[in-house]
Amino acid sequence: MNIIVTGASRGIGYELGRLFATDINNKVVVIARNRLKLEQLRRECVSQYPGAKIFPLVLDLAEERLPASFIPQLMACIGSVDVLVNNAGTLVNKPFEELEQQEVESLFRVNILSLFEMMRLLIPYMGKGERPTHIVNISSMGGFQGSRKYAGLSAYSASKAALACLTECLAEEFAGRNISVNCLCLGAVQTEMFTQAFPGERALMTPLKMAHFVRDFSMNGAGFYNGKIIPVSATLP
Ligand SMILES: NC(=O)c1ccc[n+]([C@@H]2O[C@H](COP(=O)([O-])OP(=O)(O)OC[C@H]3O[C@@H](n4cnc5c(N)ncnc54)[C@H](OP(=O)(O)O)[C@@H]3O)[C@@H](O)[C@H]2O)c1
Repeated sequence: MNIIVTGASRGIGYELGRLFATDINNKVVVIARNRLKLEQLRRECVSQYPGAKIFPLVLDLAEERLPASFIPQLMACIGSVDVLVNNAGTLVNKPFEELEQQEVESLFRVNILSLFEMMRLLIPYMGKGERPTHIVNISSMGGFQGSRKYAGLSAYSASKAALACLTECLAEEFAGRNISVNCLCLGAVQTEMFTQAFPGERALMTPLKMAHFVRDFSMNGAGFYNGKIIPVSATLP
């Protein structure tokens, strides 16, 4: 399968990129800003799984536009898209009245606005295989309608709620094009982001364990789910 994972330089995305790369039939593009971490991931995969096909691509999703080189670089590695995991995300933990407009805009750019451009550019390369292309949007329980909310996470949770809604819209819009779009609303996972959101607390879920779930869902869920917003959480927060 031809796979793209954003936010693969640490946390859940790092483990996810590694898991996809264990199958040498997969071609995996891993995206983030941190070139060194992506290169470390590539080296780790190639040494552990000889023949692994993993391609680091450095990209800052906070930029207003994607660079013109983005699609040519990507397609030189994979040619078409079977799985896209929109996993990159950023978080601001601040009381609402202390939020600066610039940081809210930057957060929304990374967590939701950048996906509009990226997915628009990738659509022509999707739905080409026998099985539907699966777009998996990684949202949060904070963005799941009706869930418990936490002070300080308004911008983050609102951006993740937008991602959940976009999922439903795109599933409708891409109907008949052999593309499925689903959204996983994750609960607490012990990563840098969790520590930022809930300082001093510990999550029971490891990034590797969550990555196993996301990997399996991404590979197998497309024929069973479309336009679904799925909570993936056994604990609070
Ligand atoms: N951990 C949790 O408890 C939890 C709960 C619910 C949902 N989630 C969601 O799960 C996803 C992964 O979270 P995580 O906990 O693994 O977070 P993390 O450890 O903080 O990793 C975030 C990833 O996103 C990338 N990223 C951030 N800003 C970026 C930018 N401007 N351009 C490109 N990439 C960027 C980071 O790479 P660079 O810094 O190298 O760019 C990093 O690889 C996120 O969407 C998050 O909202 C996490």
